[in-house]
Amino acid sequence: MKPLAPGSTIGILGGGQLGRMLSNAASELGFDVCIFTDEHDSPAARVSARTFVAPFDDRGALEEFARHVHVITTEFENVPAATAKALMDAGAHVRPHHHALAVAQDRFDEKSFFASTGIATPAFAAIANQADLDAAITEIGAPSILKTRRFGYDGRGQIRVMSPADAEAAFDKLGAPGILEAFCPFEREVSIICARSQDGQVAFYDLCENEHKNGILSRTVVPSRANAATNVAARAAAQRVLEAFGYIGVLTIEFFVMPDGALIANEMAPRVHNSGHWTIEGALTSQFEQHIRAVAGWPLGPTTRVGDIEMSNLIGADAEEWSELAADPSARLHLYGKRDSRDGRKMGHVTRLRLRED
Ligand SMILES: Nc1ncnc2c1ncn2[C@@H]1O[C@H](COP(=O)(O)OP(=O)(O)O)[C@@H](O)[C@H]1O
Ligand SMILES: [Mg+2]
Repeated sequence: MKPLAPGSTIGILGGGQLGRMLSNAASELGFDVCIFTDEHDSPAARVSARTFVAPFDDRGALEEFARHVHVITTEFENVPAATAKALMDAGAHVRPHHHALAVAQDRFDEKSFFASTGIATPAFAAIANQADLDAAITEIGAPSILKTRRFGYDGRGQIRVMSPADAEAAFDKLGAPGILEAFCPFEREVSIICARSQDGQVAFYDLCENEHKNGILSRTVVPSRANAATNVAARAAAQRVLEAFGYIGVLTIEFFVMPDGALIANEMAPRVHNSGHWTIEGALTSQFEQHIRAVAGWPLGPTTRVGDIEMSNLIGADAEEWSELAADPSARLHLYGKRDSRDGRKMGHVTRLRLRED
């Protein structure tokens, strides 16, 4: 694809806060954005030039959307891979490729993919019925975690299995298809955010150290406490994933860091990521601009970090603190414009940074 000229229109499948921040970044580079979402009054729609509201399997609406845009990308990983494929089959430029979406949407395929590219994962097994689960617990042991293969997020769709005696209740609750994973007694969790351009240029942001509460990202700190070898290994793994897919855009991989520094891949997101929100103020090119650059066929921007970072999510009622945060000169406040606050819902985030002295 020829690099898109400013004034072109970028189509985004999905209307959440990631789409909103992508849209803002696109507008900074002179692009218009058109959102396709199945949700009325979405956070991304309110900052974008145009929005189509229709189900993701509405072929007519998708065709109409495709006619209005020059390239199409996604802002959440559960945009059906079939939607992306239908658009590609109809001749649209869709980035990332629907293969990457499909793999990331299924935890078993995702872990199998990591394993096939030589990236360590927790021991895992596909679960289609109770007998599979019993056999997998014998093989993998307990504690372990039973997860749904698809549609889990923010810690939803998973149950700890503490002993073989829990197996039946866990299966009754979650059903199939699932995946059983060994529980990893990690020292910390990290993520790497990386990008690849259509010309094959690759860029990495510094490793992010992530703390979760109730399965939801709560805080990201950069630099992470991981050692130099762990940082090198994360980049090498990310590069292999980008190359394996011939990926275009920003991609995130979440890892567990074990006490000996070894990295175990947990999951990947074929998109910008919550643990990369700090890049808006904390890096020379934000993850959102980087993604827009990549999907538009532009060269990637520099990922240099400008200081030490702490990003905190505002979940549910946390966002009610907005006036105190707005008055705090150390806090860069971002609110996503969601109409209703619910427990566990990401409403905004705050970035605090200590600039480098040099
Ligand atoms: N195999 C595992 N061992 C230890 N902790 C895990 C494991 N799988 C998930 N977790 C914990 O649960 C969190 C959410 O799980 P994850 O698989 O990343 O699902 P989600 O899609 O909800 O983010 C992880 O960030 C981690 O803290
Ligand atoms: Mg996760």
